[in-house]
Amino acid sequence: MLLHSIIEVREQIKEWKKQGLTIGLVPTMGALHNGHKSLIEKSVEKCDKTVVSVFVNPIQFCPGEDLDKYPRTLDADNELCDKAGVDIVFAPTPKEMYGEGHILSNDFLTYVVPPYFYTDKLCGKSRVGHFDGVCTVVNKLFNIVQPDYAFFGKKDMQQLIILKKMVNDLNIPLEIIPCPIVREDNGLALSSRNKYLTEKGKENALALSKLLFNIKVCYNKGITDTSALSETAYSFLNENHSLEYLEFRDKDTLEEKKIADNNTVVFIAARVENVRLIDNIELN
Ligand code: PAJ
Repeated sequence: MLLHSIIEVREQIKEWKKQGLTIGLVPTMGALHNGHKSLIEKSVEKCDKTVVSVFVNPIQFCPGEDLDKYPRTLDADNELCDKAGVDIVFAPTPKEMYGEGHILSNDFLTYVVPPYFYTDKLCGKSRVGHFDGVCTVVNKLFNIVQPDYAFFGKKDMQQLIILKKMVNDLNIPLEIIPCPIVREDNGLALSSRNKYLTEKGKENALALSKLLFNIKVCYNKGITDTSALSETAYSFLNENHSLEYLEFRDKDTLEEKKIADNNTVVFIAARVENVRLIDNIELN
């Protein structure tokens, strides 16, 4: 069932709650691929009812980012959800979510602002305000859908860590279910933004996952010094890659690690054909 209004979703949820059914929420920005599908399948398996939101959230895009050209494929998304057994696809307009006059006029929006310590690094460093937009919209979706479980991919590990912190800090009564990164057979992490890449660009993008896998091999061989591990990575990069960061951080607190251990996540962001790509790997 494709719904566009908050009121309609609320009515259906109320009905399900009355019947004592469990509800899973999979928040997305659409352009659904097998990565999203894996989250959806988890929810359908675990919960009585599954809601997938499809909303390109304007307030998490920074000025100059790809808000206007972000792929919008609602018909295909709806079909994928239907086949996967989703009960509601919730696809609101920006006006439905933020009202008239709305976006980027902070004066009449209540934002959920996650702790600076989590947002001043990695993606938050170049995307100032991005995680405020993410936490605000996800909090709104939680309030609209009131799910028992919410499914998020480890592909966006910093986002996942920040949302876990939000749920914990604000006592939001649901459980976040982290889901593994889905990759192409060649290792490339699936992303809606891969659509912007040419074939050549996709080949170049492979360097990101390759260097992460290689770091893990080196770590498993006993190299724990993170500068030495970084050195092993640079040989995978060339003039086709513009590296934004390659960092070793704690999987719960995002604190930087000089010496890698089993709680370490290696994060990378780089541009290929001016498309900003992110990936990460857990070293456990
Ligand atoms: P979006 O980029 O559409 O991603 C929706 C969810 O799918 C996120 O939890 C993301 O981590 C997950 N995902 C994307 N690619 C994946 C992959 N290759 N493997 C596993 N999971 C993957 O993330 C967002 O949207 C937005 O910030 C959102 C949370 C919806 C708030 O607007």
